[in-house]
Amino acid sequence: METAGNTLVEVNGLSFGYEKNMIVLSDISLSLERGKVYALLGAMASGKSTLLKLLARLAKPLSGQIILEGKDVWQISERQFRRCVSIAFQYPDRSIFATTVYDEVVFALKMLYPEKKHMFDSLVKGALLAVGLDESFLKRNPHMLSGGEKRKVSLAATIVHRPQLLLLDEPTAGLDGISAESILSFVADYAKSDNTVLFTTHNLEDISIADEVIILYDGKVHYIDKNRVDYMVLVSYGILPPDYVLYEYWGKYHGYT
Ligand SMILES: Nc1ncnc2c1ncn2[C@@H]1O[C@H](COP(=O)(O)OP(=O)(O)OP(=O)(O)O)[C@@H](O)[C@H]1O
Ligand SMILES: [Mg+2]
Repeated sequence: METAGNTLVEVNGLSFGYEKNMIVLSDISLSLERGKVYALLGAMASGKSTLLKLLARLAKPLSGQIILEGKDVWQISERQFRRCVSIAFQYPDRSIFATTVYDEVVFALKMLYPEKKHMFDSLVKGALLAVGLDESFLKRNPHMLSGGEKRKVSLAATIVHRPQLLLLDEPTAGLDGISAESILSFVADYAKSDNTVLFTTHNLEDISIADEVIILYDGKVHYIDKNRVDYMVLVSYGILPPDYVLYEYWGKYHGYT
């Protein structure tokens, strides 16, 4: 049985909207345990990125609380919070700022652990290796990399200081099958060291590594039994399947398969 001591984050009655009368998240409560991977699904514009932003303390809730290790996140110092919680954004292009991969990845260490300067080089190389990039990338300009490589650099920059809560917004978007698998296996391993990962995705296959599946629908969260998630269930939460799945159902319906 889970103990209360396993809870890393507790969200209570969280509501948020970017504008008045346009509520995106409505009275959401959830709890994230240490050592677990959570997949967050939801239709486009259902509020997945918004929820991650709130968990990353990048926007203030209209009401409700996010409790991290027993403390309201807004009561914790910036450094203490960022050491513990890190986010990789949906669009890496918008967050990449440095002119070398090394500078991009080392940034969090410089900000959060300046006393560990002697370890920076090995930590940066380790983070790159963990996401499947070798040392030849260190001096490259991250803006000049492919979309998938940028996503990996952005992930390395997010995990280099080993945060306890890792928030990944569509970490497999735009990656080929092998790269996506390697990122997912990294995520599963990362959680095994008592860390928590919450990732969003539109790929049903990605939930294979998740311990829990959460769906955002109509501003609310729904915990779904992972073994019962299929495209028919997703449709009931407004998530449309890819074309090939629609064709398959259409074919079956008309007796072609
Ligand atoms: N900065 C912003 N200002 C105003 N409205 C916003 C802003 N960011 C998002 N929204 C709106 O909030 C709603 C939720 O957006 P969000 O990006 O959280 O959805 P999402 O579930 O991540 O979608 P997707 O699957 O397309 O990434 C959308 O209606 C969106 O238009
Ligand atoms: Mg999003």
